[in-house]
Amino acid sequence: MDRRTRHRISRLYDGHLQRSYVTGKLAGDPVYAATAAIVTNRALPLLDIGCGIGLLGHYLDAQGFTQPYLGLDHDARKIRAGRLAAQRAGLDARMTLSHADVDLLPAMAGHVALLDVLHYLSAERQRALLNAAVRHLAPHGSLIIRNVLREPNWRFHATRAEEFLLRVSGWIPGGAQHYPSADELRAPLENAGLEVRMEPLWGRTPFNSYLIVARPHD
Ligand SMILES: C[S@@+](CC[C@H](N)C(=O)[O-])C[C@H]1O[C@@H](n2cnc3c(N)ncnc32)[C@H](O)[C@@H]1O
Repeated sequence: MDRRTRHRISRLYDGHLQRSYVTGKLAGDPVYAATAAIVTNRALPLLDIGCGIGLLGHYLDAQGFTQPYLGLDHDARKIRAGRLAAQRAGLDARMTLSHADVDLLPAMAGHVALLDVLHYLSAERQRALLNAAVRHLAPHGSLIIRNVLREPNWRFHATRAEEFLLRVSGWIPGGAQHYPSADELRAPLENAGLEVRMEPLWGRTPFNSYLIVARPHD
């Protein structure tokens, strides 16, 4: 994504801090491009669980994604900021942001994204959410997960330090609950009959992030 587009998207949000966050995320986080590469292959709506301020929706729009985008998040402030940004972009007909908990997913079938959300839930809620996410996949839909994995390496420790800061700064009230291992994510998805691909997605960060894509076998 070019600088001008990043700047345009950042100006949909209020305040210097939020705009800097948006520009930094769009410039430095490879997860949005990785998601775009998958969802633009198949014309299906996208359910973005734990969407935050809805940045993925704007990134995809800039990449030519024209399907409905439905984001949900339990943080009312983020949803308010996301709705305002969608209105300012003239995308509110296609981009819906809903204030809800992950336990209450809307009825729809398409692609499903779970970007940096799972570790804010207990192990039990993660299992329930993975199963619910799979039930929201269309026959050719992909489940795209980006998450930190629990591994004995320095990246994992750097991630925990960052999560501590996110919690004390109030950006993610409650903070991380459970860091899943690779097997904890792989097993329920494979048991649901999906093909699972897992690869590191560090970008220029020190964090132990992985991209996990689950889809029906061809
Ligand atoms: C690190 S942010 C990621 C935001 C977005 N997915 C992205 O990548 O730009 C994690 C998001 O998960 C949301 N979240 C955490 N627990 C949740 C829950 N139980 N129900 C809904 N949203 C939740 C938080 O409010 C936060 O916006």
